[in-house]
Amino acid sequence: MRRKMVAGNWKMNGTRASVAELIESLRQQQLPGSVEMIVFPSELHLGSVIEALEAMPVGVGAQDCAVERGFGALTGECSATQLADVGAGWVLVGHSERRLVLGEGLEVINRKFAAAQAEGLVPVLCLGETLEQRQAGSTMQVVGEQLSSVIADRGIGSFANAVIAYEPVWAIGSGLTATPDQAQEVHAAIRGLLAEHDPQVAASARLLYGGSVKADNAAQLFAMPDIDGGLVGGASLKAEEFGAICRAAGN
Ligand code: 13P
Repeated sequence: MRRKMVAGNWKMNGTRASVAELIESLRQQQLPGSVEMIVFPSELHLGSVIEALEAMPVGVGAQDCAVERGFGALTGECSATQLADVGAGWVLVGHSERRLVLGEGLEVINRKFAAAQAEGLVPVLCLGETLEQRQAGSTMQVVGEQLSSVIADRGIGSFANAVIAYEPVWAIGSGLTATPDQAQEVHAAIRGLLAEHDPQVAASARLLYGGSVKADNAAQLFAMPDIDGGLVGGASLKAEEFGAICRAAGN
C-alpha cells in the first residue's frame, strides 16, 4: 500500500509574520495520521519553519537546490548539503515555473535530482505539459521525455527514493483543475513507463497530482487508483484549506 502524501508548495510567498501565522493556524488543524504531509516554504524561512514544526507531523522541504553538492563558489545557490544541514528532508526538482520561467533544462534537473539524493533528501520530481502541448496531443511525449531523462541519468532504482508530481502547466494557479480522469490517465501512463523499467519500483512509487487542488476537488482526485496525493500551491497558504485537503487524503 502506498501511503498518501499531501505537499504544500508555498512558492515565493510569505513574510516572517505571515509564515508564523500560517504555522499557528496549521497547529489548530486536525491532521490525519495516515497521510504524509510536507510543506515547502521559501528558502529564507526554511530554518524557522523546520523549528516551528518540530513537534508536528509535518515534514519540511526546499523548493530547489543547487546542481552541485557541498560548499563552494556558486553565488546565490543553496546546496542539498546545506539544506540537509538545516533539517530539510525533501526538495522539489523540475517545477514547471523553474523549467519555463528560469529555463531549467533536462541536464540541470538531472543534476539537482542527483545532488538531492546524494545528500539523503527525497526529490519530488515535477512533470507536466503546457496547454499548447496538450492541445497538440503531445502530453505523454512531453511528460515521458521529462521522466525518461532522469531515469536514463540516475537509473530506475533512484525512484525507490523519489516522489513524482504530475502538474499540468495549464492547471497551475489557473483554477482549471485537470479532471480526475484526465489526471488518472497521465498518472497511469507515468506508472506504466516506470514499470517498463522495474515493475516493483512502479508499484511503490508515489505519484502526486498538482494544479489547482482545492478542498472541494481533492477527494475525487485522490480516489483515483494512480493518484497518491497532491502537490498543492495556492490552497496550501490557507491552513484550513490545506488541513481539509490532508483530511481528504486520509479518508
Ligand atoms: P496551484 O495549486 O496554485 O495551482 O499550484 C500548483 C503547484 O504548482 C504546486 O507545485
